[in-house]
Amino acid sequence: MQIDVFTLIPHAFSWLTEHRPLATVLGKELELRLWSYRDFTPLSGGQVDDEPYGGGAGMVLRVDVVCAALEAVYGETRDRRIVALTPQGRQLDQALVEELADEESLTLLSARFEGFDERVVEHVATDTVSIGPYVLSGGELPAMVLLDAVARRLPGALREESGAMESFSPALDGGLEYPHYTRPPEYRGWTVPDVLLSGNHGRIDVWRREQSRVRSAL
Ligand code: ADE
Repeated sequence: MQIDVFTLIPHAFSWLTEHRPLATVLGKELELRLWSYRDFTPLSGGQVDDEPYGGGAGMVLRVDVVCAALEAVYGETRDRRIVALTPQGRQLDQALVEELADEESLTLLSARFEGFDERVVEHVATDTVSIGPYVLSGGELPAMVLLDAVARRLPGALREESGAMESFSPALDGGLEYPHYTRPPEYRGWTVPDVLLSGNHGRIDVWRREQSRVRSAL
């Protein structure tokens, strides 16, 4: 899979790329490119945003700047989904993550502060995604959330032993993860469910599926 992120702060993504799951799939299942709008702006002095028409606080990312960046990277034709991260977008859930992880290529557009000129959302983006019903100071964190969620769905992203029954895996019918326990088996009177210590993998599997089902129904 190939993902391009357009942002004003590409270096913000470096910690994400240095850790699992991204670090594991980078250069293999995932090619990630980080682009700065500023490198492509047709305006002088590296300008990328402007005051909103009609007045008001904050700055708005200009449509001509976003288009200049996309055209510099892709030319005139873009046969890929262009996702604008915005609090007004389609709310991200696991189904949307799976859908996006199935794409061969993907573009994420992030903006700062007051967001995009609405024409980016209307005419340039093919999709809009929100990571939740709250407003952040920019689209970088949402882009990172989406990157992490997509990267862990790519082959080889998760450790071998957890791959098959990982959270949200099809093995759990798309549900939430069952509870995990590790040593010690008893701590301050807090015990581990007997079934997990039984060594009976059939029963353990049934118990985990049931737990996952109960949690997902919450
Ligand atoms: N930009 C600011 N807030 C956001 C949110 N909740 N989701 C996506 N992009 C955003």
